[in-house]
Amino acid sequence: MWSNNLTKTLGIKYPIVQAPMLGITTPAMVAVISNADALGSLPVGGLTTDKTVQLIQQTKALTDKPFAVNLFAHDIPETLDMKVIEGMQDLLEHFTNEHKILFQRTSLFDLRFHSYKEQIQVLLDENISIVSFTFGILDDDSINALKQKNVLLIGTATCVEEAQLLDKKGIDIITTQGIEAGGHRGSFLNTNDLPMIGSMSLIPQIVAAVHKPVLAAGGIHNGKTIQAALALGAQGLQPGSVFIGCTESAASDAHKSLLEKSKDTDTVLTNAYTGRWARGLSNAFTKALQEHAVDIPPYPIQMGLIASLRNMATTGPNLFMPVWAGQSAAAAFSRKDAATILHDMIAGAENISR
Ligand SMILES: Cc1cc2nc3c(=O)[nH]c(=O)nc-3n(C[C@H](O)[C@H](O)[C@H](O)COP(=O)(O)O)c2cc1C
Repeated sequence: MWSNNLTKTLGIKYPIVQAPMLGITTPAMVAVISNADALGSLPVGGLTTDKTVQLIQQTKALTDKPFAVNLFAHDIPETLDMKVIEGMQDLLEHFTNEHKILFQRTSLFDLRFHSYKEQIQVLLDENISIVSFTFGILDDDSINALKQKNVLLIGTATCVEEAQLLDKKGIDIITTQGIEAGGHRGSFLNTNDLPMIGSMSLIPQIVAAVHKPVLAAGGIHNGKTIQAALALGAQGLQPGSVFIGCTESAASDAHKSLLEKSKDTDTVLTNAYTGRWARGLSNAFTKALQEHAVDIPPYPIQMGLIASLRNMATTGPNLFMPVWAGQSAAAAFSRKDAATILHDMIAGAENISR
Protein backbone atom coordinates (compact mmCIF):
# COMPACT_ATOMS: atom_id res chain seq x y z
CA MET A 1 0.00 0.00 0.00
CA TRP A 2 2.91 2.39 0.48
CA SER A 3 4.80 2.55 -2.81
CA ASN A 4 4.15 5.72 -4.86
CA ASN A 5 5.97 8.53 -6.69
CA LEU A 6 7.06 10.12 -3.42
CA THR A 7 8.59 6.93 -1.95
CA LYS A 8 10.37 6.33 -5.27
CA THR A 9 11.65 9.92 -5.45
CA LEU A 10 12.91 9.87 -1.86
CA GLY A 11 14.14 6.25 -1.98
CA ILE A 12 12.23 5.22 1.14
CA LYS A 13 9.74 2.42 1.91
CA TYR A 14 7.22 4.35 4.01
CA PRO A 15 6.12 7.83 2.82
CA ILE A 16 6.49 9.23 6.32
CA VAL A 17 8.80 12.17 6.99
CA GLN A 18 9.46 12.96 10.65
CA ALA A 19 8.83 16.71 10.82
CA PRO A 20 11.89 18.83 11.55
CA MET A 21 11.38 20.41 14.99
CA LEU A 22 14.12 22.82 16.01
CA GLY A 23 14.86 22.43 19.72
CA ILE A 24 13.14 19.02 19.85
CA THR A 25 14.57 16.89 17.03
CA THR A 26 17.95 15.32 17.77
CA PRO A 27 20.37 13.50 15.46
CA ALA A 28 19.28 10.29 17.24
CA MET A 29 15.61 10.92 16.35
CA VAL A 30 16.49 11.60 12.70
CA ALA A 31 18.69 8.50 12.43
CA VAL A 32 16.15 6.16 14.03
CA ILE A 33 13.47 7.26 11.57
CA SER A 34 15.72 7.01 8.51
CA ASN A 35 17.00 3.61 9.69
CA ALA A 36 13.36 2.46 9.87
CA ASP A 37 12.90 3.09 6.09
CA ALA A 38 11.05 6.41 6.53
CA LEU A 39 12.73 9.85 6.31
CA GLY A 40 14.21 11.72 9.25
CA SER A 41 14.61 15.52 9.00
CA LEU A 42 17.33 17.44 10.80
CA PRO A 43 16.34 21.05 11.64
CA VAL A 44 19.15 23.60 11.40
CA GLY A 45 17.09 26.78 10.78
CA GLY A 46 18.97 29.89 11.93
CA LEU A 47 21.95 27.97 13.32
CA THR A 48 25.61 28.84 12.69
CA THR A 49 27.50 26.95 10.02
CA ASP A 50 29.66 25.28 12.71
CA LYS A 51 26.61 23.98 14.57
CA THR A 52 25.07 22.86 11.24
CA VAL A 53 28.16 20.79 10.36
CA GLN A 54 28.27 19.32 13.86
CA LEU A 55 24.63 18.18 13.80
CA ILE A 56 24.93 16.74 10.28
CA GLN A 57 28.04 14.79 11.24
CA GLN A 58 26.42 13.51 14.43
CA THR A 59 23.47 12.26 12.36
CA LYS A 60 25.72 10.64 9.74
CA ALA A 61 27.51 8.76 12.53
CA LEU A 62 24.17 7.12 13.39
CA THR A 63 22.78 6.31 9.93
CA ASP A 64 23.97 5.52 6.40
CA LYS A 65 20.47 6.27 5.07
CA PRO A 66 19.49 9.61 3.53
CA PHE A 67 17.89 12.25 5.74
CA ALA A 68 16.57 15.73 5.00
CA VAL A 69 18.15 18.89 6.37
CA ASN A 70 15.68 21.71 7.12
CA LEU A 71 16.33 25.44 6.64
CA PHE A 72 14.46 28.64 7.52
CA ALA A 73 14.13 30.52 4.19
CA HIS A 74 13.41 33.98 5.59
CA ASP A 75 15.09 37.34 5.09
CA ILE A 76 16.54 39.23 8.04
CA PRO A 77 14.95 42.71 8.36
CA GLU A 78 17.31 45.47 7.26
CA THR A 79 15.62 48.34 9.07
CA LEU A 80 14.24 48.29 12.59
CA ASP A 81 11.55 50.38 14.23
CA MET A 82 13.16 51.35 17.54
CA LYS A 83 9.84 52.57 18.97
CA VAL A 84 8.34 49.09 18.53
CA ILE A 85 11.46 47.45 19.97
CA GLU A 86 11.58 49.70 23.04
CA GLY A 87 7.80 49.32 23.54
CA MET A 88 8.27 45.56 23.57
CA GLN A 89 11.15 45.77 26.05
CA ASP A 90 8.94 47.95 28.32
CA LEU A 91 6.23 45.31 28.18
CA LEU A 92 8.70 42.49 28.88
CA GLU A 93 10.00 44.45 31.87
CA HIS A 94 6.46 44.94 33.16
CA PHE A 95 5.57 41.24 32.68
CA THR A 96 8.75 39.93 34.32
CA ASN A 97 8.46 42.36 37.27
CA GLU A 98 4.89 41.25 37.82
CA HIS A 99 5.97 37.60 37.93
CA LYS A 100 9.26 38.27 39.80
CA ILE A 101 11.36 36.95 36.91
CA LEU A 102 14.86 38.35 36.34
CA PHE A 103 15.01 40.25 33.01
CA GLN A 104 17.64 42.36 31.31
CA ARG A 105 16.87 44.63 28.39
CA THR A 106 18.66 43.52 25.23
CA SER A 107 21.02 45.74 23.29
CA LEU A 108 20.46 45.30 19.57
CA PHE A 109 24.24 45.25 19.13
CA ASP A 110 24.32 41.94 21.01
CA LEU A 111 21.93 40.22 18.62
CA ARG A 112 23.35 37.97 15.87
CA PHE A 113 21.22 36.29 13.23
CA HIS A 114 22.30 33.78 10.60
CA SER A 115 20.83 33.47 7.13
CA TYR A 116 20.20 30.13 5.39
CA LYS A 117 22.45 31.48 2.62
CA GLU A 118 25.48 30.86 4.89
CA GLN A 119 24.41 27.21 5.28
CA ILE A 120 24.01 26.22 1.60
CA GLN A 121 27.73 25.55 1.06
CA VAL A 122 27.80 23.35 4.17
CA LEU A 123 24.94 21.24 2.78
CA LEU A 124 26.76 20.91 -0.55
CA ASP A 125 30.07 20.00 1.12
CA GLU A 126 28.32 17.42 3.29
CA ASN A 127 26.59 15.85 0.23
CA ILE A 128 23.13 16.29 1.68
CA SER A 129 20.66 14.83 -0.84
CA ILE A 130 17.37 16.24 0.48
CA VAL A 131 16.77 19.80 1.73
CA SER A 132 13.44 20.99 3.13
CA PHE A 133 12.59 24.55 4.04
CA THR A 134 9.90 26.74 5.56
CA PHE A 135 9.13 30.50 6.04
CA GLY A 136 9.63 31.30 2.35
CA ILE A 137 11.36 30.19 -0.83
CA LEU A 138 15.13 29.79 -1.14
CA ASP A 139 16.63 32.41 -3.47
CA ASP A 140 17.40 31.43 -7.07
CA ASP A 141 21.17 31.11 -6.46
CA SER A 142 20.60 28.65 -3.64
CA ILE A 143 18.03 26.65 -5.62
CA ASN A 144 20.38 26.47 -8.62
CA ALA A 145 23.40 25.47 -6.53
CA LEU A 146 21.44 22.67 -4.82
CA LYS A 147 19.79 21.50 -8.05
CA GLN A 148 23.16 21.30 -9.80
CA LYS A 149 24.08 18.62 -7.28
CA ASN A 150 20.70 16.88 -7.75
CA VAL A 151 19.52 17.76 -4.27
CA LEU A 152 15.77 17.16 -3.83
CA LEU A 153 13.93 20.21 -2.50
CA ILE A 154 10.86 20.17 -0.24
CA GLY A 155 9.03 23.48 0.37
CA THR A 156 6.23 24.37 2.80
CA ALA A 157 2.90 25.92 1.74
CA THR A 158 -0.09 27.03 3.82
CA CYS A 159 -2.36 28.06 0.91
CA VAL A 160 -2.77 27.27 -2.80
CA GLU A 161 -0.92 30.39 -4.01
CA GLU A 162 2.20 29.54 -1.96
CA ALA A 163 2.11 25.97 -3.29
CA GLN A 164 1.86 27.21 -6.89
CA LEU A 165 4.84 29.51 -6.39
CA LEU A 166 6.93 26.64 -5.01
CA ASP A 167 5.84 24.49 -7.95
CA LYS A 168 6.82 27.22 -10.44
CA LYS A 169 10.25 27.58 -8.82
CA GLY A 170 10.91 23.88 -9.50
CA ILE A 171 10.59 22.66 -5.91
CA ASP A 172 10.24 18.86 -6.06
CA ILE A 173 7.86 18.11 -3.19
CA ILE A 174 5.34 20.37 -1.46
CA THR A 175 4.43 20.10 2.22
CA THR A 176 0.91 21.33 2.98
CA GLN A 177 0.89 22.73 6.50
CA GLY A 178 -2.69 22.77 7.84
CA ILE A 179 -3.66 25.21 10.55
CA GLU A 180 -3.74 22.32 13.09
CA ALA A 181 0.04 21.96 12.87
CA GLY A 182 2.31 22.62 15.83
CA GLY A 183 5.20 25.08 15.68
CA HIS A 184 5.73 28.02 13.36
CA ARG A 185 3.49 28.69 10.40
CA GLY A 186 5.39 28.35 7.15
CA SER A 187 3.26 31.15 5.59
CA PHE A 188 5.26 33.58 3.51
CA LEU A 189 2.99 35.49 1.12
CA ASN A 190 0.84 37.27 3.66
CA THR A 191 2.14 36.90 7.19
CA ASN A 192 -0.17 39.56 8.67
CA ASP A 193 -3.38 38.19 7.24
CA LEU A 194 -2.35 34.61 7.92
CA PRO A 195 -3.97 31.80 5.89
CA MET A 196 -5.83 29.61 8.41
CA ILE A 197 -6.79 26.62 6.30
CA GLY A 198 -7.36 23.24 7.93
CA SER A 199 -5.83 20.14 6.30
CA MET A 200 -9.22 18.75 5.24
CA SER A 201 -9.59 21.75 2.90
CA LEU A 202 -5.92 22.47 2.20
CA ILE A 203 -4.64 19.06 1.05
CA PRO A 204 -7.09 18.41 -1.82
CA GLN A 205 -6.93 22.01 -3.08
CA ILE A 206 -3.13 22.00 -3.23
CA VAL A 207 -3.06 18.49 -4.74
CA ALA A 208 -5.37 19.77 -7.51
CA ALA A 209 -3.32 22.94 -8.08
CA VAL A 210 0.26 21.61 -8.37
CA HIS A 211 2.13 19.02 -10.39
CA LYS A 212 4.31 17.76 -7.55
CA PRO A 213 3.83 15.11 -4.85
CA VAL A 214 2.31 16.52 -1.67
CA LEU A 215 3.35 15.75 1.90
CA ALA A 216 0.64 16.47 4.50
CA ALA A 217 1.55 18.11 7.82
CA GLY A 218 -0.85 18.97 10.65
CA GLY A 219 -2.67 16.61 12.98
CA ILE A 220 -1.17 13.37 11.64
CA HIS A 221 -0.45 10.93 14.44
CA ASN A 222 -2.02 7.50 13.85
CA GLY A 223 -3.37 5.10 11.23
CA LYS A 224 -6.67 6.93 10.80
CA THR A 225 -5.14 10.37 10.22
CA ILE A 226 -2.58 8.86 7.81
CA GLN A 227 -5.35 7.18 5.82
CA ALA A 228 -7.42 10.39 5.80
CA ALA A 229 -4.54 12.46 4.38
CA LEU A 230 -3.79 9.80 1.73
CA ALA A 231 -7.50 9.71 0.78
CA LEU A 232 -7.37 13.49 0.30
CA GLY A 233 -4.59 13.04 -2.24
CA ALA A 234 -1.38 13.42 -0.23
CA GLN A 235 1.38 11.00 -1.20
CA GLY A 236 3.18 11.32 2.10
CA LEU A 237 2.84 12.49 5.69
CA GLN A 238 4.92 14.77 7.90
CA PRO A 239 3.96 14.23 11.56
CA GLY A 240 5.69 16.37 14.19
CA SER A 241 3.89 16.70 17.54
CA VAL A 242 3.56 12.92 17.92
CA PHE A 243 7.37 12.71 18.35
CA ILE A 244 7.79 15.48 20.97
CA GLY A 245 7.46 13.11 23.94
CA CYS A 246 9.62 10.31 22.48
CA THR A 247 12.79 8.99 24.12
CA GLU A 248 15.05 10.61 21.52
CA SER A 249 13.42 14.06 21.87
CA ALA A 250 15.37 17.01 23.29
CA ALA A 251 12.24 18.25 25.11
CA SER A 252 12.79 18.68 28.84
CA ASP A 253 10.75 16.74 31.38
CA ALA A 254 8.85 19.92 32.27
CA HIS A 255 8.03 20.40 28.59
CA LYS A 256 6.85 16.79 28.17
CA SER A 257 4.74 16.93 31.34
CA LEU A 258 2.96 20.12 30.24
CA LEU A 259 2.09 18.48 26.94
CA GLU A 260 1.05 15.22 28.58
CA LYS A 261 -1.42 17.09 30.81
CA SER A 262 -2.78 19.28 27.98
CA LYS A 263 -6.06 18.92 26.15
CA ASP A 264 -7.43 19.65 22.67
CA THR A 265 -8.38 23.28 23.42
CA ASP A 266 -5.04 24.31 24.97
CA THR A 267 -3.13 25.44 21.88
CA VAL A 268 -3.19 28.97 20.46
CA LEU A 269 -1.55 30.77 17.56
CA THR A 270 0.84 33.34 18.96
CA ASN A 271 3.55 35.62 17.61
CA ALA A 272 4.67 36.54 21.12
CA TYR A 273 7.88 34.51 21.15
CA THR A 274 9.47 35.20 17.80
CA GLY A 275 7.42 37.71 15.82
CA ARG A 276 6.20 34.86 13.58
CA TRP A 277 2.92 33.09 14.15
CA ALA A 278 3.27 29.67 15.72
CA ARG A 279 1.02 27.15 17.48
CA GLY A 280 1.77 26.16 21.03
CA LEU A 281 0.26 25.81 24.48
CA SER A 282 -1.21 29.01 25.83
CA ASN A 283 0.34 30.41 29.03
CA ALA A 284 0.62 33.62 31.07
CA PHE A 285 3.00 35.18 28.54
CA THR A 286 0.96 34.47 25.40
CA LYS A 287 -2.13 35.81 27.21
CA ALA A 288 -0.32 38.96 28.44
CA LEU A 289 0.89 39.85 24.94
CA GLN A 290 -2.53 39.23 23.45
CA GLU A 291 -4.20 41.42 26.10
CA HIS A 292 -1.77 44.32 25.67
CA ALA A 293 -2.18 44.27 21.88
CA VAL A 294 1.27 45.85 21.41
CA ASP A 295 3.19 45.88 18.13
CA ILE A 296 5.50 42.88 18.06
CA PRO A 297 8.92 43.28 16.38
CA PRO A 298 9.35 41.07 13.31
CA TYR A 299 11.03 37.65 13.22
CA PRO A 300 13.76 37.07 14.26
CA ILE A 301 14.15 40.31 16.27
CA GLN A 302 11.47 39.42 18.82
CA MET A 303 13.15 36.02 19.29
CA GLY A 304 16.39 37.86 20.12
CA LEU A 305 14.68 40.16 22.65
CA ILE A 306 13.30 37.29 24.69
CA ALA A 307 16.19 34.85 24.20
CA SER A 308 17.23 34.92 27.85
CA LEU A 309 13.70 34.05 29.01
CA ARG A 310 12.93 31.24 26.57
CA ASN A 311 14.80 28.51 28.36
CA MET A 312 13.69 29.48 31.83
CA ALA A 313 12.50 26.35 33.62
CA THR A 314 9.12 26.63 35.26
CA THR A 315 7.69 24.77 38.17
CA GLY A 316 3.96 25.00 38.75
CA PRO A 317 1.83 26.72 36.12
CA ASN A 318 3.70 27.56 32.94
CA LEU A 319 4.30 31.30 32.89
CA PHE A 320 6.67 31.64 30.03
CA MET A 321 8.09 28.44 28.51
CA PRO A 322 7.20 28.03 24.81
CA VAL A 323 5.67 24.58 24.25
CA TRP A 324 5.05 24.34 20.52
CA ALA A 325 2.37 21.77 19.81
CA GLY A 326 -0.36 21.04 17.29
CA GLN A 327 -4.08 20.67 17.88
CA SER A 328 -3.67 16.87 18.08
CA ALA A 329 -0.58 16.98 20.30
CA ALA A 330 -2.49 16.06 23.48
CA ALA A 331 -4.08 13.02 21.82
CA ALA A 332 -0.83 12.08 20.10
CA PHE A 333 1.45 12.34 23.15
CA SER A 334 3.66 9.30 23.71
CA ARG A 335 6.84 8.65 25.68
CA LYS A 336 7.74 5.58 23.58
CA ASP A 337 10.86 5.56 21.40
CA ALA A 338 10.58 7.14 17.95
CA ALA A 339 10.83 3.82 16.06
CA THR A 340 7.92 2.35 18.05
CA ILE A 341 5.82 5.47 17.49
CA LEU A 342 6.54 5.22 13.76
CA HIS A 343 5.78 1.47 13.63
CA ASP A 344 2.51 1.96 15.55
CA MET A 345 1.38 4.58 13.01
CA ILE A 346 2.34 2.33 10.07
CA ALA A 347 0.62 -0.73 11.59
CA GLY A 348 -2.49 1.36 12.35
CA ALA A 349 -2.74 2.49 8.72
CA GLU A 350 -2.08 -1.02 7.38
CA ASN A 351 -4.82 -2.47 9.61
CA ILE A 352 -7.36 -0.06 8.14
CA SER A 353 -6.38 -1.11 4.59
CA ARG A 354 -6.91 -4.83 5.31
C1 LIG B 1 8.04 21.73 18.40
C2 LIG B 1 7.94 21.98 16.93
C3 LIG B 1 9.01 22.57 16.26
C4 LIG B 1 8.94 22.76 14.87
N1 LIG B 1 10.04 23.24 14.20
C5 LIG B 1 10.04 23.25 12.83
C6 LIG B 1 11.24 23.51 12.11
O1 LIG B 1 12.31 23.73 12.68
N2 LIG B 1 11.17 23.54 10.75
C7 LIG B 1 9.99 23.24 10.07
O2 LIG B 1 9.99 23.24 8.83
N3 LIG B 1 8.86 22.99 10.74
C8 LIG B 1 8.85 22.96 12.10
N4 LIG B 1 7.71 22.62 12.77
C9 LIG B 1 6.46 22.33 12.01
C10 LIG B 1 6.46 20.89 11.51
O3 LIG B 1 7.33 20.76 10.40
C11 LIG B 1 5.07 20.39 11.06
O4 LIG B 1 4.50 21.31 10.16
C12 LIG B 1 4.10 20.17 12.21
O5 LIG B 1 4.72 19.58 13.32
C13 LIG B 1 2.98 19.24 11.74
O6 LIG B 1 1.87 19.29 12.59
P1 LIG B 1 1.70 18.37 13.90
O7 LIG B 1 2.57 19.00 14.91
O8 LIG B 1 0.25 18.47 14.19
O9 LIG B 1 2.15 16.97 13.55
C14 LIG B 1 7.75 22.42 14.16
C15 LIG B 1 6.67 21.85 14.87
C16 LIG B 1 6.76 21.63 16.23
C17 LIG B 1 5.60 20.98 16.94
